[in-house]
Amino acid sequence: MALLEIRNITKIFGGLIALRDVSFDVNSSEIVGLIGPNGAGKSTLFNIISGFHHPDKGRILYKDVQINGLEIDRIARMGIGRIFQEPTLFMQETVFENVISGLHRHYQEAAWKALLHTPGANREENNKRDKALGILEFMELSSLKDELAANLPHGWQRVLAIAIALASEPDLLLLDEPVTGMNPSETASMIEKIRQIRERGVTVLIVEHDMRAVMSLCDRIIVLNLGVKLVEGTPDKIKNDERVIEAYLGKQVL
Ligand SMILES: Nc1ncnc2c1ncn2[C@@H]1O[C@H](COP(=O)(O)OP(=O)(O)O)[C@@H](O)[C@H]1O
Ligand SMILES: [Mg+2]
Repeated sequence: MALLEIRNITKIFGGLIALRDVSFDVNSSEIVGLIGPNGAGKSTLFNIISGFHHPDKGRILYKDVQINGLEIDRIARMGIGRIFQEPTLFMQETVFENVISGLHRHYQEAAWKALLHTPGANREENNKRDKALGILEFMELSSLKDELAANLPHGWQRVLAIAIALASEPDLLLLDEPVTGMNPSETASMIEKIRQIRERGVTVLIVEHDMRAVMSLCDRIIVLNLGVKLVEGTPDKIKNDERVIEAYLGKQVL
């Protein structure tokens, strides 16, 4: 059984077919790349997996359970974390507070206890604090923990977005263009981070235009073009596929 099963997903916006009969699997502990030209439907598929959009046809199974039709928060609590193509941080909060907010989402059901300041609630607050500090250390954000998110350079904002997503302890992480806008050294360290995240047992589905990054990182790649799955396979297979080169890769240096 795959961790995530995308089954015959079709999504239509007005008259536009954003996704047409798209199917593929993501297995546990894989890093799978989703690539394709602008407008191919990559972010739309992420929106469907995470519950922001509903498919017109098809099903999404996660851990063998159908998740399309469930609420966004429910899907998140089932273990699917994501970062968006556009940064969605609390800009006027510190780095630390942003990660704590990510944790609160995870522990929502216990919020009323915190209001009562019971001993259990205090213990839980301490746990959250320790957990947030651990995530900041892992993402190498510790020295920036008291900075306002708004003051971070773009690359670090992307890193923070992943730290927030990790706070909810996802089994599956959806990354939409995590290295876009980063310089080569920031990109290299982000790639290394994503590898380490996978080593911690998190499965990763990643949309990214940086082909060097995608090819070096992914076990398998799915190519979308105009809402249709063109081909899927190993990076080597994708690099050499005539249809992919024609539709997408063109003269990009691989
Ligand atoms: N909420 C929406 N309403 C209408 N059209 C949309 C919406 N979201 C995406 N689209 C359209 O669906 C197509 C796929 O978009 P998107 O999934 O963002 O592509 P990608 O992420 O691959 O660049 C595009 O033509 C886009 O304009
Ligand atoms: Mg997109």
